[in-house]
Amino acid sequence: MAAGRALLSSQNGLAAVAPLSSIGYRARGLASSLPLLRRRCPSAFASSSARCCSRPHSEGAGERVMKPEKDEAFVLTTPLYYVNAPPHMGSAYTTIAADAIARFQRLLGKKVVFITGTDEHGEKIAAAAEASGRSPREHCDTISQSYRILWRELDIAYDKFIRTTDSKHEAIVKEFYSRVLNNGDIYRADYEGLYCVNCEEYKDEKELLENNCCPMHLKPCVRRKEDNYFFALSKYQKTLEDYLTSNPDFVKPLFRLNEVQGWIKSGLRDFSISRSSVEWGIPVPNDDKQTIYVWFDALLGYVSALLEEGEQTNLEQAVCSGWPASLHLIGKDILRFHAVYWPAMLLSAGLSVPNMVFGHGFLTKDGMKMGKSLGNTLEPKDLVQRFGADAVRYFFLREVEFGNDGDYSEDRFINIVNAHLANTIGNLLNRTLGLLKKNCQSMLAFDSIIAAEGNSFKDSVDQLVEKAKYHYENLSLSSACESVLDIANAGNLYMDERAPWSLFKQGGASSEMAAKDLVIILEVMRIIATALSPITPSLCSRIYSQLGFSKEQFEAATWDDTKWGGLKAGQIMAEPKPVFARIENIDDGNEVVQNKNKDKKKASHRQGLVEA
Ligand code: MSP
Repeated sequence: MAAGRALLSSQNGLAAVAPLSSIGYRARGLASSLPLLRRRCPSAFASSSARCCSRPHSEGAGERVMKPEKDEAFVLTTPLYYVNAPPHMGSAYTTIAADAIARFQRLLGKKVVFITGTDEHGEKIAAAAEASGRSPREHCDTISQSYRILWRELDIAYDKFIRTTDSKHEAIVKEFYSRVLNNGDIYRADYEGLYCVNCEEYKDEKELLENNCCPMHLKPCVRRKEDNYFFALSKYQKTLEDYLTSNPDFVKPLFRLNEVQGWIKSGLRDFSISRSSVEWGIPVPNDDKQTIYVWFDALLGYVSALLEEGEQTNLEQAVCSGWPASLHLIGKDILRFHAVYWPAMLLSAGLSVPNMVFGHGFLTKDGMKMGKSLGNTLEPKDLVQRFGADAVRYFFLREVEFGNDGDYSEDRFINIVNAHLANTIGNLLNRTLGLLKKNCQSMLAFDSIIAAEGNSFKDSVDQLVEKAKYHYENLSLSSACESVLDIANAGNLYMDERAPWSLFKQGGASSEMAAKDLVIILEVMRIIATALSPITPSLCSRIYSQLGFSKEQFEAATWDDTKWGGLKAGQIMAEPKPVFARIENIDDGNEVVQNKNKDKKKASHRQGLVEA
């Protein structure tokens, strides 16, 4: 952001600047509160709202803090996606990761508020609407809906979908703007600089490539001169610096924290928060010749989304419904907005800073960020149609280490999904159920606790479950998948070593041992289905059903169900049926056929049953 603070031209009714020491923080979870700054209830909030309560601050006797009613809620957000074009795999990636984290938190018994939505104002959207020959409103309705449809196809269980064109959101943005204004942090000035419409951001000339091209979008930035309102970000330099020092968990992964600290150290400059040239936006309060800058509008979606239907539409109410967010999941390109601008804006308005911002990497194609503006995208709809939601979710979460970039390759996709889901997990279940049907009439002969008595195999499974939990908690989703897969690998090894099919043939005590072994493996399958359910929910639901559980039992499962002991003697298993169809690429290894016969390129599915 290249805006300087020069050229102050008018003050537009500024109130006295509040001393920074009176601005409130509240840190929850991993982040601790900044010792220098004590939380203060903004006076408007301190009034006795029916839904907010006050309690003594743990650090300072007698201090009162705003405590959202839903104290235990885990509020997590995806970015609100631009509706310049329908979603691509890059945008789906954040949402899949957020859904996995939300599902894991629900398993832990947390009340989760998972927020996603669409960012619908600004120049880029207005231009896309015009190009499509639709009014901005029609255009936004259509594209926003395409996000919802894709989320359904990908098994995304969000709780809130906010559109920045919602009237309740507009009211929240205006109230927020007025608070910041009253805090003395908005002023009017002229600005001239180079603007990237795709980033919706003024750029520093030194960041740009030849011909003033944006390094992200490879398109030339345009020179703009405007009379705008500015947010006094520079005032928050020291406060943010101190905050990050005291709350190093605020930005994850660690290397992104270093990046953010570097930006702040190099000097924060005020940025313009209105546009005189853009009509498609929320009008600036008291100046309808300007609209609010799309970022100063969209970030507030995280707050306005919290409002329940029928509630009063104001900041106080939204805050009481769950602010601050526990986790903002974002891509690395929008880290500065979330880890620098947003906390400063919140502090200015007297609101708490979110607990954590996690900046993941990019899905790339040929090393370039996959994106709508570059047109090098991968269609998530096609992937889901061809391979199913579980395969898509599993591949991207397992293959791309969360936080780093990852390149897509179809061969790798098919290999990984077949090896892990169809073979290691699916076939283990299938061959065990086949043996159980043949030898025990599909009924468990022992409780799983009894079957595993004195067997150290159970302890290795317990350890891997703990590992998976640790990784989920640390948002290491790929490692969490790996730990669960290790359980299945251990199960396969156990099965091969014990060879229950031979033991059954020996009869007597050997048969009894074999029956116990099958219970042990099926117990392992139950544990895998619980532990992997955040990543591949449909697959895990099918495993539950094969194990003789109802859909309701699957939906009621919690992380406690990863403990050994869920399967009981007498439980009847379902008819063995493959839970994951192996993907077979009919054109495997035949480039020529692939090129000639594009429509034949579709991978076919076949049943992945392998007999023990
Ligand atoms: N509208 C803003 C966000 C406002 S949040 C208050 C925006 N929208 S976006 O549609 O351009 O991008 C949304 C998210 O998708 C960002 O986190 C971005 O990093 C992510 N991705 C877009 N392309 C991506 C990849 N190729 N790979 C991974 N994520 C990428 O920015």
